[in-house]
Amino acid sequence: MKSQLVIALLAAAANARSLSTRTAESNLFSGDGTYFSPGTSACREQNTSRDLIAALNAPQYGDITAVSPHCGRCALVRGPLGQAKVKIVDACPECVLGSLDLSLAAFEQIAHKLEGRVKIIWEFVAC
Ligand SMILES: *[C@@H]1O[C@H](CO)[C@@H](O)[C@H](O)[C@H]1NC(C)=O
Repeated sequence: MKSQLVIALLAAAANARSLSTRTAESNLFSGDGTYFSPGTSACREQNTSRDLIAALNAPQYGDITAVSPHCGRCALVRGPLGQAKVKIVDACPECVLGSLDLSLAAFEQIAHKLEGRVKIIWEFVAC
């Protein structure tokens, strides 16, 4: 119940125009947003901190030794400062369900770098 309230409050605070294409609240995920230094990824891509990319939490990614069906999908992530559209190119083994590990470029669009870990809500969107 508490997390649903948090989601509702965050959704209400988010940019109304970007929410207009959202169909159901059940499509939203919530968790922690962090950032990491991308290298060779579980999706077999090579990205940098300047790319708008994310590593998907292991429970959603699936087998982290394989290329997931989620590889290459895009996600719209909202944090305390704003939103970022990222491509899923990696798995985050230590992330719990709903969490994303972002490139620095993506993290800085949604929060101050010094915060390091912030609450996010996100959904899969068309790339
Ligand atoms: C990730 O890196 C690949 C090259 O390995 C590049 O083609 C792709 O554009 C990068 N993705 C993003 C979102 O920048």
